[in-house]
Amino acid sequence: MTIGGNAEKDYENMLSAVSGLAADEKNIIAVMANVSAVIFHNVKTINWAGFYIKEGEGLVLGPFQGKPACVRIPPGKGVCGAAALQKKTLIVNDVHSFPGHIACDGDSASEIVVPIMKNGEVFGVLDVDSPETARFTELERKYFEEIAVIIGKAL
Ligand code: SME
Repeated sequence: MTIGGNAEKDYENMLSAVSGLAADEKNIIAVMANVSAVIFHNVKTINWAGFYIKEGEGLVLGPFQGKPACVRIPPGKGVCGAAALQKKTLIVNDVHSFPGHIACDGDSASEIVVPIMKNGEVFGVLDVDSPETARFTELERKYFEEIAVIIGKAL
């Protein structure tokens, strides 16, 4: 746990809430909308939580909580595009030093992006931003990847 961060127990509770939401509703946009709200209101020191969904080769904005964000991300661009291209989680401790980072909210200092996979293909990404440098650790990777798996299975 980081200073000012969440305990593992917080994330276990969050995961239970996400599992419940995914089990209770078939409409994946509705599920993602509530999942973004669960993350936003449970994860400490964040300023944006939401989804980008693959459309064509790029990504388009999905359900989220936070300030309005850029609508379309071209293939491979930004942290989101890079994570989708590499099909792996990216943790960026200082977004200002990440080449090609797309600044949607000037408050963001660090970011984690987790691909959501369906049958080996990228369906979209979960993106969470923090105003604190190096906010995201292996703890967040573990639980946000579990959320991505739950959503992938619900697709
Ligand atoms: N910073 C992201 C763009 C999305 S916003 O953070 C909501 C990126 O570089 O891909």
